[in-house]
Amino acid sequence: MKTLIAANWKMHGQLAWTEKPAQFRALFPANANANSNDRVDILICPPAHMLQIMVAACAGLDISIGAQNCHDQTSGAYTGEMSAQMVAETGANHVILGHSERRAMFGDRDEVVAAKTSATLKAGLVPIVCVGENRGEREAGQAEEVVGAQLAASIPQHADGVSLVIAYEPVWAIGSGLVPTLEDIAIMHDHIRGCLITRFGAPVADNIQILYGGSLKPGNAKEILALKDVGGGLIGGAGLEMDSLAAIAMAAP
Ligand code: 13P
Repeated sequence: MKTLIAANWKMHGQLAWTEKPAQFRALFPANANANSNDRVDILICPPAHMLQIMVAACAGLDISIGAQNCHDQTSGAYTGEMSAQMVAETGANHVILGHSERRAMFGDRDEVVAAKTSATLKAGLVPIVCVGENRGEREAGQAEEVVGAQLAASIPQHADGVSLVIAYEPVWAIGSGLVPTLEDIAIMHDHIRGCLITRFGAPVADNIQILYGGSLKPGNAKEILALKDVGGGLIGGAGLEMDSLAAIAMAAP
């Protein structure tokens, strides 16, 4: 399985940033050498106003574009929202769903995430379903239970697991500079793999990429990305600058 290196730009970005994909490729050439795109897929998830121009900016660069959210309905009176079909029309092919910032600030509970994931699949896009415990849940020893429950309720019943990416992002590690120990990341990713095997069966579940996110940086990427069930990274702060994003891509096994 290829490693997926995904940058979540959150609410950062301006039209001048359409230069970034080419800058990235200058630092991390596709199909060039041992550190090539043969082993690494690159995804950038910019704010919604940039989706279409970023798709155009990535033409020929083998970089995919994803959205950070979508609505679960196809169309209608939902001021300020964008449907999965609309995301698909931009040429983007992934949607991040259930990010902890959306769960905490915009009411994206598990059922909402499941409905949005369902709409994303129906639109032919790949959902990246985010899960992760907060600090209190980690300290209370409930991290695995919380993540297992989020997974069960955030993936819609009809999903077959064939087109699905999971991102494990411990809430307390996001933007904080704090990172779980390698052992804790390995235990959680193994747990997530187990949940996916129970749900979808081994052959399908084994092919689901499970990304790690939360203060992933060039300095810690090599050891984290080398862990057995870590299939890539979902990167916030370090994904805004192409030198650090390229350094993380370079660190992929
Ligand atoms: P940081 O890499 O800035 O901690 O953010 C992680 C994240 O939330 C990616 O979705």
